[in-house]
Amino acid sequence: MRVLGLETSCDETAAAVVEDGRRVLSDVVSTQVDIHRRWGGVVPELASRNHVVQVMPVIDEALRRANVTLDDIDLIAVTSGPGLIGALMVGLQVAKGLSLARGIPFVGVNHLEGHLLAIRLLEDAPDPPFLGLVVSGGHTSLYEVRDFGEYRLLGSTRDDAAGEAYDKTAKVLGLPYPGGQPIDHLAQNGNPKAIRFPRALPGHNVFDFSFSGLKTAVLTHVRTHGVPEGQALADLCASFQEAVADSLTIKMVRAAKAHGLRKLVLCGGVAANSRLRALAQGRARGDGLELFLPPVRLCTDNGAMIAVAGYEQFRKGKRADMGLVANPAWRL
Ligand code: KG4
Ligand code: ZN
Repeated sequence: MRVLGLETSCDETAAAVVEDGRRVLSDVVSTQVDIHRRWGGVVPELASRNHVVQVMPVIDEALRRANVTLDDIDLIAVTSGPGLIGALMVGLQVAKGLSLARGIPFVGVNHLEGHLLAIRLLEDAPDPPFLGLVVSGGHTSLYEVRDFGEYRLLGSTRDDAAGEAYDKTAKVLGLPYPGGQPIDHLAQNGNPKAIRFPRALPGHNVFDFSFSGLKTAVLTHVRTHGVPEGQALADLCASFQEAVADSLTIKMVRAAKAHGLRKLVLCGGVAANSRLRALAQGRARGDGLELFLPPVRLCTDNGAMIAVAGYEQFRKGKRADMGLVANPAWRL
């Protein structure tokens, strides 16, 4: 079964063709970061307009690279929330249009479910149940994935998402948007113990996160010492990165143990972070848990993960109809 996955919830226009929910035939991502960078963040109206321009060429390219046509597509899976309303609407309207014109069934996918199930594209992919931590620009949420389509929220951020903390910290440091990669890069040559930044909500049975205090601590540091350069900048980046990775991994491992889950999945854009990946691997091993990490390409937004989630929904008998509307605040 071939699924066309469409993703337009934020600033990536993405389409992919995935076979049987496991094999990627093509995966095309057109990013708008260069358009949004000069504004220091995603401008919703610009995102919608650029999705309109990019969506059909991206779909055509995904079909071409998969060496198929729409006649070979059995299902269209489209992100219908959460995300920017105007951006979501572009993908959803295209999915509806193609479905109506070509008689192809379609399903609406929750973007977070897509991130959680991207791991299914690994060769030795875990089956549920597993513990999934989604760390992205908009979310930091821990789920017990009981089965496909069965998710229990165990904890989430009480303020900023981890990616948001990266992006805001980068802004304070005068680094480009989005901030994750540049901070990750600079941190490679820094001392993670140079500055002791706070780790919020240390309580043992608390599986929520908080990053606004960390963001303020960076701001206070910069106001006191000025914007660092050279080695001092690398040290600040490494110390910030250590605080984020430490908070995330401690909670992830604790939650897994508290809920009797042996398999862990880390996903979402921030899961591309080198220190987070290494620390999570070390802590999981130390506690006899098995950690599954998607390759970096599947951590950030893409159409393949949406195709996987759509495939699993379809197998459970779900179908969308023309009444489906985009839900910018859809909770998983
Ligand atoms: O999942 P994603 O592509 O989009 C959302 O659904 O939000 O995540 C984007 C976020 C941005 O905040 C970006 O700064 C962060 O992922 N990110 C990283 C890295 N690469 C991307 N954060 C830390 N380290 C990275 N290497
Ligand atoms: Zn995402």
